[in-house]
Parts: sequence; structure tokens; C-alpha cells
Amino acid sequence: MTVLNYRSVLSTIRLVLVPLVLLVGVCSGGSDVPRGVALPFVFDPKATCDPPCKHAGICIRNNTCFCSRGYEGEVCQYASCYPKCKNGGECLRPGKCRCPSGFGGRYCHKVVCDGGCWNGGDCIAVNGVAKCICPSSWTGSKCQDAICPQGCKNGGSCVAPGICSCPEGWLGGACHTAVCMKPCLNGGKCVSPDTCRCRSPFTGPQCEERKKLF
Ligand SMILES: *[C@@H]1O[C@H](CO)[C@@H](O)[C@H](O)[C@H]1NC(C)=O
Repeated sequence: MTVLNYRSVLSTIRLVLVPLVLLVGVCSGGSDVPRGVALPFVFDPKATCDPPCKHAGICIRNNTCFCSRGYEGEVCQYASCYPKCKNGGECLRPGKCRCPSGFGGRYCHKVVCDGGCWNGGDCIAVNGVAKCICPSSWTGSKCQDAICPQGCKNGGSCVAPGICSCPEGWLGGACHTAVCMKPCLNGGKCVSPDTCRCRSPFTGPQCEERKKLF
């Protein structure tokens, strides 16, 4: 690979050689040969390029740019990335890809789940879309939600696989057991927090009274 130092080539030509010279550029292969200009090329120091060559490209003939490494296009306006940006990534500058959401890595070659996958979930491309595949006891886009197969009743919430956090007044694996601070007497049943359902003929907050019989 012959590496040309463009600025020194340019100054050498200006100082030593007549205005119009033949510069035979020798460039042995490689995928990063600038496009649009065939080598060897004619270099005209008086050449003007309008619009000007971008990204340190050199105007070698009227309206013909010789692009510096990593750039291509009529006026060297496009960065080129090798390896190319994958999965629809955009080449921002040589070797720097901007990846669409769902992809990452230097060449956008990796599947990336925004925010990651929690609780041991795996980020996998499903039909080209990044998705978290969750272990059996977790669900949600990031596997952030635990699964309680028994359900969490009476306003309880599932906080870990099979574990409900119950509101005050309820207990049990599914928050299905009401708590009565004062016990229900005479065979009464606690049916909701501090509420007894009494057996006949008992009544009262704790089923402590016997209904008067006529
Ligand atoms: C390049 O363009 C300039 C004016 O823009 C002109 O004077 C000159 O002759 C051109 N050179 C060649 C080699 O065509």
C-alpha cells in the first residue's frame, strides 16, 4: 500500500514543477481506493472545483476531486465505512456508523434491546426487530414484570415470581385471606378486612351478640 501525503505532494508540485504536470499516482489495490477518479491522473495545480472538495479532498482538475482516505462522492461529501454499516446503519465519518434503533456495535452488526433485557432475558432479533426473550417467570418488553401464576387478588401486586405484595388487611399467597384484627366469634368468618360474616343467630362486629328471637 502506497500512502500519499497529499499536502507534501501538493507543495512539491507547486515549488518544483511546471504548472501542468503529469502525476502518476500509483496505488495498489485495497477497498479504500477513493472513487470517482481513475489513477494515474492528471494533476492541474490551477484547477478549480466549485463546489469545493470536502473533507481534505484535493482539486486535481477542474471540478474533479481526489478524495482523502475514507471519503467518496463527487466532492468527497460522503464518508465511507469499511466494513460497511450493517442493518441500515449510516456512515457518519470513516469507520463510524450511526445505527438504527435495535442495532449497535461498531458496524451496527449487533442486536441491541433498548434499555437491555432484565432478569436473565436474552436480546434476540425476531424478523429483524430486537426483542427480549424472557425466562418463564418474567414478562414485559424488558422482562421487567414478574409472573404470579396464582394471581394477586384484592389489589395485590406481583413483585417477584409467585410472590404477591398484599395491601393492608389481606394476607396469603394470592392476597386472598382477609385479616380481622378482632377475631370473628361463634363460627363467624372474616370475609374482608375487619368484617365478619356471622352465623345465625349471631350478629355484631365480632358476631358476639345473639339476635333476639321473637
Ligand atoms: C479551469 O477553469 C478555469 C476557469 O474556471 C479556466 O480558466 C481553465 O482554463 C480551466 N482549465 C482547464 C484545464 O480546463
